[in-house]
Amino acid sequence: MKVAVIGAAGGIGQALALLLKNQLPAGSDLALYDIAPVTPGVAVDLSHIPTPVSIKGYGGEDPTPALEGADVVLISAGVARKPGMDRSDLFNVNAGIVRSLTEKIADVCPKALIGIITNPVNTTVAIAAEVLQAKGVYDKKRLFGITTLDVIRSETFVGELKDKNPLEVEVPVIGGHSGVTILPLLSQVEGVEFTAEEVAALTPRIQNAGTEVVEAKAGGGSATLSMGQAACRFGLALVRAAQGEENVVECAYVEGDGKYARFFAQPVRLGKNGVEEILDHGPLSDFEQQALESMLDTLRGDIKLGEEFVK
Ligand code: NAD
Ligand code: LMR
Repeated sequence: MKVAVIGAAGGIGQALALLLKNQLPAGSDLALYDIAPVTPGVAVDLSHIPTPVSIKGYGGEDPTPALEGADVVLISAGVARKPGMDRSDLFNVNAGIVRSLTEKIADVCPKALIGIITNPVNTTVAIAAEVLQAKGVYDKKRLFGITTLDVIRSETFVGELKDKNPLEVEVPVIGGHSGVTILPLLSQVEGVEFTAEEVAALTPRIQNAGTEVVEAKAGGGSATLSMGQAACRFGLALVRAAQGEENVVECAYVEGDGKYARFFAQPVRLGKNGVEEILDHGPLSDFEQQALESMLDTLRGDIKLGEEFVK
């Protein structure tokens, strides 16, 4: 397997590259690309870690050498939030970055599984889909918005609240990746009961966890290390499924049946070609049903913005 990390010299990119260098299966190739000139040096640095994963870094204007032969491409290229900003404030810069990178992917490795981290994810995934469609290579099973950070935060916060090992907690998170579009399904956490007050407090904590980090970093960026961990978990899931492991399930923001919106985060069974099956999110509590209905205008608006940007 060849995995390409695009935006690899950034806060997320370096953390993700470190984790992948340590955790990709033996014999994998890891390619790092970033416009930052330090990128080949990041790869040299990581290459001294003794794991059976080969690594190469590329800088400059053209990501082609990193993308050639890539089976999985993880994109964190772009700018991050500062206090007082919304993820949607990143659109002006990041939309163009995702568009041009996806154009390259369409030309160089159109069959790659693509995971988009760059915000605003609700919109950048729509941009990538439109670019791939315009190039005639769109396969909705191969394009993912990475929402795993919402899942790992939910697992952590539920573990803390209920005094459980967070590694044994599973929380599906559906919808999108910003504010009210992030909907953790607390009613489905096995072996745990929540009071209405706990749900009313924990849901917005999870929805605003990105802002919690942005404010704590006080102008120094947004979540990078936890996102590196989240992207590694999702990237490894793509790799394991592509290599034939069965029953690999993760939540991700994908194009499904359009019941709620063209793109929607939900549990997905992964296979050799990306999405194998979109799983039903199961029964919702009244609180969750109401939250789902009230997020849809925002989510659909975010998606339309991306579609119109490309058109
Ligand atoms: P960062 O500024 O530390 O790193 C971004 C990197 O992208 C930089 O190294 C920069 O040189 C590079 N870059 C910019 N344009 C590029 C291009 N055209 N090609 C290649 N590389 C390019 O930012 P970060 O903290 O790593 O965050 C990156 C993005 O991820 C932001 O948009 C942020 O909002 C988003 N993010 C998403 C999630 C999520 O859950 N999906 C979580 C955290 C952050
Ligand atoms: C997050 O959830 O931490 C990321 O989307 C970054 C941000 O801007 O909040």
